[in-house]
This record gives sequence, C-alpha cells and structure tokens, in this order.
Amino acid sequence: MNVLVVDDDAAQRRLVTWLLEEQGYDVITAGDGLEAIDRLRQSPSALVVCDWDLPGISGVEVCRMLRGEHSPQDLCFIMVTARHSQRDRRTAFAAGVDQYMIKPVGPAELAAQVEIGRFVVTRTPEERRILAMARVAESRDPCTGSHLKRIRSYCRVLADQLRTVPDLGDVVDEDYVKLVYVASPLHDIGKMAIPGDVLLKPGKVNQKEFEILKAHTLQGAATLDTALDRLDDSPLLRMARDIAISHHERYDGSGYPHGLAGDEIPLCGRIAALADVYDALTSRRIYRRALRHEEARAIIVNGAGTAFAPYVVQAFLDREDDFQTIGRQYSEVDRLAVDLPAVAYGHEISGRLLRGTELGHLHSTGVVV
Ligand SMILES: [Fe+2]
Repeated sequence: MNVLVVDDDAAQRRLVTWLLEEQGYDVITAGDGLEAIDRLRQSPSALVVCDWDLPGISGVEVCRMLRGEHSPQDLCFIMVTARHSQRDRRTAFAAGVDQYMIKPVGPAELAAQVEIGRFVVTRTPEERRILAMARVAESRDPCTGSHLKRIRSYCRVLADQLRTVPDLGDVVDEDYVKLVYVASPLHDIGKMAIPGDVLLKPGKVNQKEFEILKAHTLQGAATLDTALDRLDDSPLLRMARDIAISHHERYDGSGYPHGLAGDEIPLCGRIAALADVYDALTSRRIYRRALRHEEARAIIVNGAGTAFAPYVVQAFLDREDDFQTIGRQYSEVDRLAVDLPAVAYGHEISGRLLRGTELGHLHSTGVVV
C-alpha cells in the first residue's frame, strides 16, 4: 500500500520515509501542498502523512482538497504537527483529518497510527461509515477533550498486556488488540440518541434524566446492531457493539444496563470499563481538579473484583507507565481547552467507585465518579 509523506523539512521526510519503508510500505513524498496534490493524482495513495505548515497551501487545505476528490472511506489523512490547540484540532477534523498527532511523534507511535489507518481504509464501507460516527458523537459532547483518543490507547495497552495472561492468550491476539483500539471510541456512540438538554444539562440531573443517560448503552448497541444487520459479519462492529453495551457493567454485577457479572461481561467491555474510569478520574472537571495518577491508581486498585476484573487491574498495574505516558501526551491539548458548560456533579471523590444510582447523575464520559 502506498503512503504519501508531505513535509517541507527534507530531513523529516527522509526519516518518516525510512520508518514506513521499514514497515513494508511504498512511500512517495512531497515537499509542499500543491506537489502533494499532484503526486496523489499520479500515484493514488490510501494513506497520507502530512505536516500542517507547508509552503503555499497548508496541510489542512491539502486535506480539504483531497476530500473533494476522495470520499473519507478512500483515504486516511494523518496530520502530524506542532500545533496543539483545541481550535487547530477542530479545524483539522472539520477539514477531514482522520488522525491528529502532535510533534514530537515517536517512531513506534507513527508506525502504529499508519497501521491503524491501513486497517481502517481496508474496512467495508458500512464499517467505515460507523467509525466516522464516533467523531460526530465526540463533537457533540464538548466535555470530552481527547477522551476518545486516550480511551483507545488505554484499551490497546490493556489488551496488549492481557495477551500475557495464559487463559486469555487464545482470545487476545494481535488482531484483537487492533480491533479494541479501533472499536473502543464507539463506546459512547449511543449518546447521539440522548437529548441535548439532558446530555449537556448545566446542573445535577435528576433520577429520571439519569435513567435516560444510562440508556446510551442500549442505544449504542441498537445503532451497531442495525449496522450489523446489513453485513454478513464484522468482528469490528461486533466488538464495538459489545463495548457499547457493556462498558458500564461492573465485575460484581452492580453495573448497568443488565447487571452482568464476571465473565458474563464481554472481555472488551471489561477492558473499556477500566480505561473509561481511569480517564474520567484523571481528567479535570468543573467541580474538581484532575486526579493524579497515584490517586486514580488507588481507586482502580480498590475496585479490583468489584468494579473491575482483577486481571484487568493487574494489566493496568503492569503497564501504568504507559498509562501515564498516554495521559501526558494529551494533557497539554486539554489544558489549553476552554472550559465549556458541563454537567455539574456536586459531590466529592470518596476514594471508592460509587455507583451511578448513588450519585444520580452521569459523568460526561458516561462514567460516574
Ligand atoms: Fe458510557
């Protein structure tokens, strides 16, 4: 598969080219935006890795122009830039950028994103349509920041670590890790069906509203079931469906929507549950600061066997350095984000994971903390 690398810095171009060729990709390059357009017309590529600031037209303009010629399904556009404001990110995504990476980008990280891009562009049109919906859902909820990007990275780390668990080794293989990375951002897709006055209510929600919010799990599953009905099969959408419906279940059976316990909860749901809660704890809210990793760690550990599967907690502990790295990677982006009206929670972190019904409202990520 061809990859077009666009950067006006020749050394950077060579470096990225070398890296991707090592991964087995055929690489073509361009030093500015117009050359990129020409190169792509001569040698169609499904993947583009592009800098933002280029001589002549910018990387964002390149993306807009390409989107005019290619449907999003035909092309994966990865923006690699030093620009890190939320405004820039929104501009890039509005132009049709699929992945937004902030420099400096490590070789392994870039290789992983290109590989994910390849994975996505080789999906069926129906699968790609559903994946695009995750971005729409994210844009509807201004409180999420980089939540989806962290969630998928946390899920990938956990799944990768679970490959070492003897009982899970047969289930969690390389493809599973890739699937959970791509599918997990769809976990809250059901929020698209939640009325805006409830989803974004600037105050404590009542019990009735909380029940409506909880239904995002069932709504998400229904959306994905509809898509699955149109396909012979899709491991990706099946996993997305399982995550959507089960990421608020708790290991001890006290979660929702079905009160599943233990292994009744799909493994991907057990993984996403921990990732979702960790991200909620370590994210700033209007009523509290972001918890430090050590504080979130203590709460997660305390939830082993109640909120979370013990072996998923162990995987988290085994890879907590990766969690901190991922958190730091996106914290700068979110630090610069403007606070927007959010659900007001009005309660204290008590050092334990409280049940949603105890609190009577839902976290913006769908997790009650
Ligand atoms: Fe949720």
